[in-house]
Amino acid sequence: MDQYRVFGNPIAQSKSPFIHQKFATQTKQKINYESELVELDQFEVAVECLIANNGKGANVTAPFKEQAFALCNQLSERARLAGAVNTLIFSNGVIYGDTTDGIGLVSDLLRHQIQLQNSNILLLGAGGAAKGVVQAILEQAPKSLTIANRTLSKAQAIADQYPHAEVNAVTFEATEHLIFDIIINATSVGLSGVNLPISDQTISSASTCYDMVYGLEPTAFLKQAKLLDVDNIIDGLGMLVGQAAASFYLWRNVRPDVEPVLAALRKQLSQ
Ligand code: ATR
Repeated sequence: MDQYRVFGNPIAQSKSPFIHQKFATQTKQKINYESELVELDQFEVAVECLIANNGKGANVTAPFKEQAFALCNQLSERARLAGAVNTLIFSNGVIYGDTTDGIGLVSDLLRHQIQLQNSNILLLGAGGAAKGVVQAILEQAPKSLTIANRTLSKAQAIADQYPHAEVNAVTFEATEHLIFDIIINATSVGLSGVNLPISDQTISSASTCYDMVYGLEPTAFLKQAKLLDVDNIIDGLGMLVGQAAASFYLWRNVRPDVEPVLAALRKQLSQ
């Protein structure tokens, strides 16, 4: 049977095996997908071992996305721009790397009927998570994309990668009097309860607030948006299933239906 893995450290919390097994049943694909805890210096060995054992592909999560990027002999353009890989495809001795996080985010926004085209988007954060979604957002032709980060130079470095697009880099403080349609939180503060210094005025200007993180409780950012009555408040569970669906499609050339899997995960999360 074709073998797939998700490599990470830690990995016990990963929902990917559940998601991919559901996709496989739904689409009648005979695959085996499991999670694998990899020691920090053993990533390459884990990949080689999978390839030698009928491995056809893998997902890669923290902290291995950059190592995966370095290991690939071929990369998609979007993986090259992100500097990270979350999907590996093994074929004829080639390790091909791609990143589906951006598709996961965009497909989830579109699923919620949120138009990115011609909208003004604020992306909070300039780490790996932010970097991984910028190209996919720009492909939707927004009017502008503003990247706000605590460390301005990191936001500027991402903006500099896209000289032909309307990408601005700012500090959090500089967003105070700006107006956006969509605000996406890609910082790692997530469920830690840390409030980002984004003003109520900026948040209430938006019709959509999205956090890439998900959990039983909304993040501090989504709580703030809720208090301010923002129309669409969305967590990152749909992005997780969306990126998995895009990986599954790359491997199997079949598009799974995300809705029933997302519903099952949402139910699990609330139990
Ligand atoms: P990830 O892969 O999750 O993106 P990362 O690459 O370490 O992780 O990036 C973390 C992001 O969250 C960065 O944008 C970071 O801001 P800095 O670049 O200034 O470090 C942001 N971040 C983390 N903790 C934060 C905090 N307490 N307040 C504001 N931003 C924070």
